[in-house]
Amino acid sequence: MRLDRAAALSGLTRAEAKRAVASGRVRVKGAVIRDAATQADPADVTVDGVPVQAGEVYMMVHKPAGVLTATEDRRLPTVADLLPEPVRKRNPGPVGRLDRDVTGLVIMTTDGQLAHRLISPKWKAEKVYRARCAGRLTEADVARFAGGVALSDFTAKPAGLAVIAADDAESVADVTLTEGKFHQVKRMFAAVGHPLIGLHRLRIGCVTLDDALAPGECRPLTEEEVAGLYRLCGMDDR
Ligand code: URA
Repeated sequence: MRLDRAAALSGLTRAEAKRAVASGRVRVKGAVIRDAATQADPADVTVDGVPVQAGEVYMMVHKPAGVLTATEDRRLPTVADLLPEPVRKRNPGPVGRLDRDVTGLVIMTTDGQLAHRLISPKWKAEKVYRARCAGRLTEADVARFAGGVALSDFTAKPAGLAVIAADDAESVADVTLTEGKFHQVKRMFAAVGHPLIGLHRLRIGCVTLDDALAPGECRPLTEEEVAGLYRLCGMDDR
């Protein structure tokens, strides 16, 4: 099949696919090919690093502040706007939500079962956040997180709190949760008397935000990362 036709399988029009080939976004077996007439097996073709053939989409996004964890919004930019066009056209959804002011790792996928299991407390996928909060975190706060912080409408499951720096003005700590209720981390810090100043998600399960991704950038998950998430969610028979 011609390379521009193969590239169009990703959801691009033929004209868009031709332009994608010419601008070096299309690879065959990992090598950039700029000649749209080249014959290629679609199984070997990627656009922006994403295989063109049907199959699920799995992307890692570095969400900046001010961007909504949604797929569309009439007023504000969304994480879907950060995806390359061929990927966005496949309609992947975010795995869980980050508040508008929160930065860091968002996974976007078309794989509904994996997304559901990564969010469900039943599968205990860890979410790790770097938190900056007001005041000095102490061993007493670590113990409160470990014991389950009581909030007005539920008690949070035991959470890890690893203090990285603490002084009287503010502290930095990594928080590990296996659930993700609305504003949960903010509410937990507020409940122990240390209002959050900033929050950044570092990890979901075995997938750590890639240091090479600047805010607003994204990349496909590697096969190892996807396989690791499948194992974590009891889906490794697929
Ligand atoms: N907890 C919060 O409070 N906000 C987020 O965005 C994620 C976890």
